[in-house]
Amino acid sequence: MAGLNPSKTGEARKAVDRLNSEAHTAKELMEGMTALLNKLMLKYNWIGFYMLEPGAVPPMLALGHYTGAVTPHTRISLNQGICGAAASSGKTIVVDDVGKDPRYLACSLETKSEIVVPIFVRGKVAGELDIDSHFLAAFTSEDRELVEYCAQLVGKRLEKK
Ligand code: SME
Repeated sequence: MAGLNPSKTGEARKAVDRLNSEAHTAKELMEGMTALLNKLMLKYNWIGFYMLEPGAVPPMLALGHYTGAVTPHTRISLNQGICGAAASSGKTIVVDDVGKDPRYLACSLETKSEIVVPIFVRGKVAGELDIDSHFLAAFTSEDRELVEYCAQLVGKRLEKK
């Protein structure tokens, strides 16, 4: 049935590329990206950016643009949550069942799985793209590639500032 069921991640990647060429600022790119992923990727139920607060000691992640339910976690330190772990390690973290990960900070009772991808600006972590799903193990290797691609585009755009 190839062709009748084109990969959603492939479609999303093309749409993200289009958005990247049209967005004038990093803010426009980030806002457009959360809306686009939310629309195209049906298992992506909460999509948001956390960015390191400039100059904060100790370092602190602050919630930026997001699409989805209101979250109580508007500031997260690097030793808290999946978000803190991804930012402090500089590595993508995929959690198939948040109920089994003691690091998890709950945003919504409906969340079952999560991916957090660091955003690098000039080689340093500047923030991250965090996506929650209402489905267990929603993030496959294809999803991971898509979300890492999105995080790279945002990092490159932030480097132009
Ligand atoms: N679950 C995250 C907190 C942010 S919410 O998902 C929006 C964590 O464990 O760090």
